[in-house]
Amino acid sequence: MGKFYVTTPIYYVNDAPHIGHAYTTTAADVVARFHRQLGDEVFFLTGTDEHGNKVEQAATARGVTPRQHADEMVGKFKEVVRKVDATNDFFIRTTDAEHEAFVQRFVERCRENGDIFEGSYSGLYCSACEAYYIEENLVDGLCPDHGTAPSFMEEKNHFFRLSAYQDRLAQHYRANPDFVKPRHRYNEALSFIDQGLDDISISRATLKWGIPVPWDHSQVIYVWVDALINYLSALHYAPGDDLVSRFWPATYHMMAQDILKFHGIIWPALLLSAGYELPEHLFIHGYLKLGGEKMSKTRGNVMDPFPLIEEYGPDPFRFYCFREVNFGQDGMVGEDSFRARYNAELANDLGNLLSRSVSMIVKYRGGAVPAPAGRTPDSSPLVADAAAAEATAKSRLEEMELTGALEAIWEFVRRLNRYVEEQAPWKLAKAGEDAALDGTLYDLAEGLRVLAVLLHAYMPGTSREIMSRVGQTAEIADFAWQEASWGRLEPGATLVAGAPLFPRIEIAE
Ligand code: MSP
Repeated sequence: MGKFYVTTPIYYVNDAPHIGHAYTTTAADVVARFHRQLGDEVFFLTGTDEHGNKVEQAATARGVTPRQHADEMVGKFKEVVRKVDATNDFFIRTTDAEHEAFVQRFVERCRENGDIFEGSYSGLYCSACEAYYIEENLVDGLCPDHGTAPSFMEEKNHFFRLSAYQDRLAQHYRANPDFVKPRHRYNEALSFIDQGLDDISISRATLKWGIPVPWDHSQVIYVWVDALINYLSALHYAPGDDLVSRFWPATYHMMAQDILKFHGIIWPALLLSAGYELPEHLFIHGYLKLGGEKMSKTRGNVMDPFPLIEEYGPDPFRFYCFREVNFGQDGMVGEDSFRARYNAELANDLGNLLSRSVSMIVKYRGGAVPAPAGRTPDSSPLVADAAAAEATAKSRLEEMELTGALEAIWEFVRRLNRYVEEQAPWKLAKAGEDAALDGTLYDLAEGLRVLAVLLHAYMPGTSREIMSRVGQTAEIADFAWQEASWGRLEPGATLVAGAPLFPRIEIAE
């Protein structure tokens, strides 16, 4: 048994959540659930980033205080978590008093270690990124990420000596080639470090909405410093015993590439300065794109996943996310491809497999799983395929290959469907080949049970439903990963027929 601490970014509350936020939260949930299946101790953190320019501006535009704005918006982000059926252990808000106090202590530690000094700064600031840009990094004078014009800012600020950590960061990267995954993101972060790091301003003088700098109340702490520290502050006050010693350092911080530099450079430097261990890995997935562009609230091209979840439940959405787009790369999403995949793979492949297997057992054996006559349960022709699906899915999930693992599971779904065709139980029944029919029906029920274990992390509701239809009560089926080994289904289990799991979506021409 190991420990597994996984985080999502904490999301800005300037605007409503969209599919991009639901995506990272779902990905973190899949791996959190998988590690619980392995028997690991798991802590899964998500939450909201509530301070800073961006949120202050959004509140001003609505004529409310930033606090009121954040209090209203946070509900929508908590709803996302619930809607995608995520099992986070805590939801952090950066306006929590405990977080604010921890951030102040943290920056005090950096200051005591000689890493904070006063200086002044002027430059072009993109408030959507909450970051300064140098002119040559703009595209036609606009922020490369948001397509908006940055504004000129000049301030006297407190600075963090990031430059002093350049060598230690580079060393850490070289000693830990899997610190950032996938590999091309590691290369990107390391080459950024190798180009040389400038000191960064870590306070804002003109902004009111933030955590006061403890030794200078005329300034607030830069929102990114405030935000990054959440991963550590949460463990100090979330419910649970000894969370810091049990779970720090984090196993995985998950995010998209937009915030790699903050997590791959500033965060580890801050941790080194304050004297903490560094997270084990960052996993950088890609962007979900709509119409060829990264979705973002600032660009106004977002896909709202909630109507789809309302209509079809969380599982088809969770499935679609990792099936449609190769996890770790950018990819296009849209409602048409959602519906097409739902019909082809959920209604046809999985839904039909379940309903025809159950109805054959009901029809030919009165709904009780037969004992495979003349052979042991584990001498089935499917044993090797089940074992391969289990082993491949496991090793890929351990490596965060969420698409690859799901493909290995789906190969097994297709294998089971082929098995039905090959064995043609209706012919066996007609020919009176009882032993062969018993074996085939047992194998189908057992294949479904194994599948329910393998699919649990991706489609928890579906997995529960499959288990109960093959006669496994919640107590028998705890979805422990080891339950995926073949032959554990007791003959005699009573099957439960039910409505189609995934009724086909009628698509208008
Ligand atoms: N508040 C900061 C993060 C601070 S973490 C210490 C922030 N918030 S955000 O609301 O903009 O969220 C960015 C993250 O949301 C991305 O890194 C990614 O996890 C997720 N996504 C937002 N849009 C996305 C896509 N279009 N596609 C994939 N993920 C997306 O940055």
